[in-house]
Amino acid sequence: MELYLDTASLEEIREIAAWGVLSGVTTNPTLVAKAFAAKGEALTEEAFAAHLRAICETVGGPVSAEVTALEAEAMVAEGRRLAAIHPNIVVKLPTEEGLKACKRLSAEGIKVNMTLIFSANQALLAARAGASYVSPFLGRVDDISWDGGELLREIVEMIQVQDLPVKVIAASIRHPRHVTEAALLGADIATMPHAVFKQLLKHPLTDIGLKRFLEDWEKVKP
Ligand code: E4P
Repeated sequence: MELYLDTASLEEIREIAAWGVLSGVTTNPTLVAKAFAAKGEALTEEAFAAHLRAICETVGGPVSAEVTALEAEAMVAEGRRLAAIHPNIVVKLPTEEGLKACKRLSAEGIKVNMTLIFSANQALLAARAGASYVSPFLGRVDDISWDGGELLREIVEMIQVQDLPVKVIAASIRHPRHVTEAALLGADIATMPHAVFKQLLKHPLTDIGLKRFLEDWEKVKP
């Protein structure tokens, strides 16, 4: 399973990319707005394109950028503009209009990530429309007391049984256990916030173990 960052913060992306285990990035309008607010810069079309280009150059893998248009024709136009920014851009699309736009953009060779997936049938439709990726939102399903893991299990199984050429991105990840669960269930990718990425590495026994090794070494070192 590949590991993606779910952020639009260049600082966060640079930090995790330096670990050598980052395969891609997903963004959404909320995350882009947050990144621009953090750097105190106006979100113009040029600034957004430059920001996405910088993310692509830092990651060297797929970078999902979401359209904000709501109607298929406008989504296609916006998707083409996004895809022209960098060859690694994947156009993120939601909803019924997104499905129509997905069919057209995929036919043009533009990769699409169908987002806000909350059922196996939505994933099936996305795959039939030529999407390269589907993003089931685990955390948001758990938030309403349903089972995000069960949603992911169904989607992964359906794609395997039907032999559909689409990759599953486990999204809306809230904690490290979601990452383990996604890997065990056979997701192709897990995309997670910076804080969760950092938590993957953390274990109190690792910290205690290192401290003890260094203390013992100090006692006898030449
Ligand atoms: C997926 O690509 C989305 O950007 C993301 O995972 C949404 O997660 P959230 O529920 O934490 O907003």
